Amino acid sequence: MKTILTFLTALIGFTAAHGQRICGTANYNNMVKIGKQNGFETKGGVRLAARDTLTNEVINIPVVVHVLYNSAVQNISDEQIKSQLTSLNKDFNDVNSDRVNTPSAFKSVVANCNIKFCLAQVDPTGKRTTGIERKFSNTVVFNADDAMKIESRGGIKAWNSKKYLNIWICGLNSRSLGYATSPGSAAEIDGVVIAHDVFGTIGNLRAPFNKGRTATHEVGHWLGLSHIWGDDNCGDDGVYDTPRQKSYNFGCPSFPRVTDCSQTINGDMFMNFMDFVDDACMNMFTIGQKQKMRALFAANGSRNGFLTAYGCDSNAVQAGPIAIDSTTVPVISPLQITMYPNPTNAVVNIEVVKFINNANYTIYIYNAIGAIVQTQQINTQKTSVQIASLPAGIYTLVINSGTEKTTKKLIKQ
Ligand code: ARG
Ligand code: ZN
Ligand code: CA
Repeated sequence: MKTILTFLTALIGFTAAHGQRICGTANYNNMVKIGKQNGFETKGGVRLAARDTLTNEVINIPVVVHVLYNSAVQNISDEQIKSQLTSLNKDFNDVNSDRVNTPSAFKSVVANCNIKFCLAQVDPTGKRTTGIERKFSNTVVFNADDAMKIESRGGIKAWNSKKYLNIWICGLNSRSLGYATSPGSAAEIDGVVIAHDVFGTIGNLRAPFNKGRTATHEVGHWLGLSHIWGDDNCGDDGVYDTPRQKSYNFGCPSFPRVTDCSQTINGDMFMNFMDFVDDACMNMFTIGQKQKMRALFAANGSRNGFLTAYGCDSNAVQAGPIAIDSTTVPVISPLQITMYPNPTNAVVNIEVVKFINNANYTIYIYNAIGAIVQTQQINTQKTSVQIASLPAGIYTLVINSGTEKTTKKLIKQ
């Protein structure tokens, strides 16, 4: 209660200081709603406080795109998928070319969210992947009921949603561009669904939704953002620096667009990615939205798993046989290593399948700060060893015969 009071006092002070109009009951109701929202979010261990809970490090999100197609036009190209990744990266890093269109009145709150997306390089079992899965479907047009995520309903099942952003592409009921689950949803349905003809910036696209902004908007929801009008008449989206607005905007309004409950003469922030305007007319997230999204990655936050996701790192391939890195010289060229991570008992098997002149090799495992945590001997009689349980982390595995040496990155999740 004390924190709610402090918050209310701060908000009233803020409002008065900025000479904004107060719309009585609605404003009161919205304040109460914020308190409840705060209470709810704190339950999940994530505070809705107006500050970053992490340093401003880049957060990497491995993405898997599951394409369900009934016709060639639904089976969108790899290039179309990549164009969406490119535009997501621009929008979440404040380098979208149309950022110059943000009205100067709102420029000071524009955020570089520092969130990067990659097509997954490594799948959940450690195998190399393109990050794209395709499957023919008898369903021409799916409804927004998660069937595309469930194998028994003709869908493709999700990858570990703590480590991957799952995106399903399919024909969608024509009124819908896409939809997203909120943080905290069941793992099997966690992710976003986008219609095949509004995904990316090239291919057969449905204007005016042809600039990749449906995915930007849906990923915003997936990272906990609400619509900017709070889905209510002058509602609240729980973000301090998005002005209240009466409802959603369509098309391409001209600035300023002042509605009943607009807090200032600047009016609606309709160019925010969380409004409903045309793709070409939206161009920003705010600092408050960034903080709300990034708070989910803090310890105990529902998206915290991404801080230890390695799907964007092509060196993190864990299953073999895999070729040895040629980073250390001299390289033991015929040597191959197979590593089998076992997530349940944290034991890693290493198998050397080729030896040079019956050499004895020592396997060293170094931790992230360069200390040797384990050593193992291996020779032609003993071609496989078990590495004892390792805590999650990044290690360097070095195999050394005394004259020859090679290294491999070893990641234990
Ligand atoms: N209507 C959809 C939703 O509520 C997405 C709207 C995205 N807007 C756009 N211009 N692409 O989630
Ligand atoms: Zn939405
Ligand atoms: Ca707001």
